[in-house]
Amino acid sequence: MATTPIFNASCSFSSTRGIDCKSFIGLRSTVSKVSVASSRVATSQRRNLVIRASESGNGHAKKLGMSDAECEAAVASGNVPEAPPVPPKPAAPAGTPIVQPLNLNRRPRRNRASPVTRAAFQETDISPANFVYPLFIHEGEEDTPIGAMPGCYRLGWRHGLVEEVEKARAVGVNSIVLFPKVPEALKNPTGDEAYNDNGLVPRTIRLLKDKYPDLVIYTDVALDPYSSDGHDGIVREDGVIMNDETVHQLCKQAVSQARAGADVVSPSDMMDGRVGAIRAALDAEGFQNVSIMSYTAKYASSFYGPFREALDSNPRFGDKKTYQMNPANYREALIEAREDEAEGADILLVKPGLPYLDIIRLLRDKSPLPIAAYQVSGEYSMIKAGGVLKMIDEEKVMMESLMCLRRAGADIILTYFALQAATCLCGEKR
Ligand code: PBG
Repeated sequence: MATTPIFNASCSFSSTRGIDCKSFIGLRSTVSKVSVASSRVATSQRRNLVIRASESGNGHAKKLGMSDAECEAAVASGNVPEAPPVPPKPAAPAGTPIVQPLNLNRRPRRNRASPVTRAAFQETDISPANFVYPLFIHEGEEDTPIGAMPGCYRLGWRHGLVEEVEKARAVGVNSIVLFPKVPEALKNPTGDEAYNDNGLVPRTIRLLKDKYPDLVIYTDVALDPYSSDGHDGIVREDGVIMNDETVHQLCKQAVSQARAGADVVSPSDMMDGRVGAIRAALDAEGFQNVSIMSYTAKYASSFYGPFREALDSNPRFGDKKTYQMNPANYREALIEAREDEAEGADILLVKPGLPYLDIIRLLRDKSPLPIAAYQVSGEYSMIKAGGVLKMIDEEKVMMESLMCLRRAGADIILTYFALQAATCLCGEKR
């Protein structure tokens, strides 16, 4: 950096005394020695304090041609040498206007001047411990690529999944959430496969817990992967999604997942009263220590498209607008949050993530509970697509989007980038 020599010259005494080094740069000197007293002057006066590194000597000896050791010896013997000339100012491009410096007492750029200061004043941080890795699983041995989500696969639950979990753990991601692709033949209108103790999800939980007892397993509680209608709840003849009857099924599903060893059950269905009912059902079965992460503010979003392709779980008719929230609504998130808190949720989740930062901030400010953000499939796919087309720098946009979710107030982030981002963070630290 061009200003380094002057910067260092003044830093050697000022940095420990609390004077901003840069206030010395390029100013005319009226004092020949800087005393401790002058470094303690009030901020308002300090602006007018004029010192120039080149004129701080008394003119007895020439520094030119002296080594640092000779210079030190001369000073020690009282024969203070003349200070060296100020290096020329870095040249501005031809045509740069010559102006009087603005009289500013605050220049926020000072705190951004170098990587060291930027790191010192960074307000938000992010680590692999903040990530929960959503993984798609299916029966069989193969890993099947998901067209709309480059880099994501439906993983074979006994092979590909285990390898992926292994990789994630190696970079510090020790939390996952499972999403099953259920064979069509096992789906029905009441989603009963959801609470089959030998279904894909419970079997997978047992396998993973056996191999990695400290892995934290989140599960999705909702009927859509198991429903022949592709809805999160039971659909009545007239198209109405039945609330209380669905909650009954969800309780059975959550208990079945807890029995298999799930650490955190996560109702994503948006039925009313499901958190309280699931809490009671878990407790009644002795699962007091199983947590509930509630999808508190889950919006009826088009950003879920790629996910529904991944699980082939598109609603067979209609949409999810009678249970998922209207993207235009903000206050309504508070109604959901209050209910979930009162019913005993341990974590409140906002979904999608990036377009809903205001909702994350709202819940962060209004609730003492941990907040989760779900960077959903459509958000992932957009960043991937932009990267593949070389329209954006995929890695940088990925890290920025995750940092922004943290800044908005998310403690944890469910993200398909968990492995990639954690790998990136680990590389940075090494
Ligand atoms: C289903 C569920 C969905 C997602 C998570 N759980 C889809 C939906 O509500 O239709 C979406 C996740 C994503 O898009 O990444 N209960």
